[in-house]
Amino acid sequence: MPNQISINLDRTLAPINRDIFGGFAEHLGRCIYGGIYEPDSPLAGEDGLRTDVLDALRRLKMPVMRYPGGNFVSGYRWRDAVGPADERKARMDLAWHDVEPNTFGTNEFVDFCRKLGSEPYMAVNCGDGDMREARDWLEYCNGTKDTALVKLRKEHGYESPHDIKYWSIGNEVDGPWQIGMKTPEEYARAYAEYAKVMKWTDPSIKLFAAAVSLWDTEWVERIQLVMEHAHSFKRFTQQDLIDYIAIHWYVGNDMKRGFADDDFASYMAISERFEDHLSSTEGVIRAMSSALKLEHDIPIAVDEWNVWYRTGNDEKLEEIYNLEDALVVAMHFNAFIRHAKTVKMANIAQIVNVIAPIMTQPDGMFLQTIFHPFEVYAKTCGDTALDVHWSGDTFSAEGKNGNRSLNGIRTLDVSATLDAKKKQLAVYVVNRTKDRASDVTISLRDGSFKGSGRQYLVNGSDIKTTNSFETPHNVVSKVSSVSASGNRFSTTLEPHSFTALVFDIN
Ligand code: AHR
Repeated sequence: MPNQISINLDRTLAPINRDIFGGFAEHLGRCIYGGIYEPDSPLAGEDGLRTDVLDALRRLKMPVMRYPGGNFVSGYRWRDAVGPADERKARMDLAWHDVEPNTFGTNEFVDFCRKLGSEPYMAVNCGDGDMREARDWLEYCNGTKDTALVKLRKEHGYESPHDIKYWSIGNEVDGPWQIGMKTPEEYARAYAEYAKVMKWTDPSIKLFAAAVSLWDTEWVERIQLVMEHAHSFKRFTQQDLIDYIAIHWYVGNDMKRGFADDDFASYMAISERFEDHLSSTEGVIRAMSSALKLEHDIPIAVDEWNVWYRTGNDEKLEEIYNLEDALVVAMHFNAFIRHAKTVKMANIAQIVNVIAPIMTQPDGMFLQTIFHPFEVYAKTCGDTALDVHWSGDTFSAEGKNGNRSLNGIRTLDVSATLDAKKKQLAVYVVNRTKDRASDVTISLRDGSFKGSGRQYLVNGSDIKTTNSFETPHNVVSKVSSVSASGNRFSTTLEPHSFTALVFDIN
């Protein structure tokens, strides 16, 4: 069956928030030390930041960066990592069973973000920490009054406030692996109390409830309770206390367990799982917003997501990605674009060395397969998501472990965006066939192709192809020109490929 993608330029879904191209840096393995910060490397600047890593990250145009964890934050003491180097305190990190030297902390991270052009997004310790510590950290960072904490920041060389806008209360508090795991009720109570004092400290901040990472039967209750408790304080805080509901997932053993092992079709069907997570989270937030008569929308932040199934908890998490993983990353962006109305932030976990698009050694780096689709989207994505009508080939994936098999899954995973100012249409397609090419025709309504366009193609000789220090270019993105006029454009998509088509339009 021929594949047809019909796009009506007037049928818009929602504005796209570029924060979906966010990142996440945790004190874990070689993400901070030996990743973004490595004073002994010949590639480091005077501040110890790796200049090559900064350059590569700039290509991903990440508007926001989450820090310092992750599981790490649930045992973090921010005070250990500010001030003169000789006063920093090394501590045992029980999340990843390592010694944390604390030479890199809040101020170094903010400097890193400013150099990168990313907004810092902090997670506070809601594991073995308390709300006083969280509120003090916020005052240290953003305070402007004449207080001891503001004086301390100034003594540390930061006269002006950092103005950190985004703060999450805790991390994966639903997981037994977390220091200070909390029941739905415990977290809902803790969240509301932390949020109250943090909004009183700085009413301009945006707060994230760390709602779901374990997609078991309790997750609905977690969102329900945290929204109820936070809302119950409204008359004392004059504003709602939840600005985002944060959720996590990894395409890892949990998600993959539902499908046949090492089977390409099953792996590509993973998109149905994260579609489920997004749609059902949207539904629960909407139901609760209606029940509580909220006057504002609560968006979703997928503030940790990625592929992670090889390295498990080996405490370094240096996953080496292949081509099929890059396709799964592209399908994530398609999903975030299709859900642009609700997904207002997403942070790939993580940025360097730890389940990351960039791998380093002291004197060099290589870009993993997953770097390339990320870069293509970040570079070409328009500001409005379009509703795409599709018809064509489908495939099936065999279910396992009590998960039902799926039929009728679209062979082409598609999203599209419009940049009305530039008059540009971007169409993103993951072709989920293993052995054969797919023909596709894109038809436009309420507009026409202007003639010129570009195609970005991410593919490799085999779905298992990886990049490495020795062979860094096995999987890259290749750009070429295309020409399109009238209102139909036909092309052939290579097997197991990601293609972005960017057209100038009338
Ligand atoms: O990103 C690695 C870990 O994954 C994070 O520390 C944690 O939040 C999640 O389980």
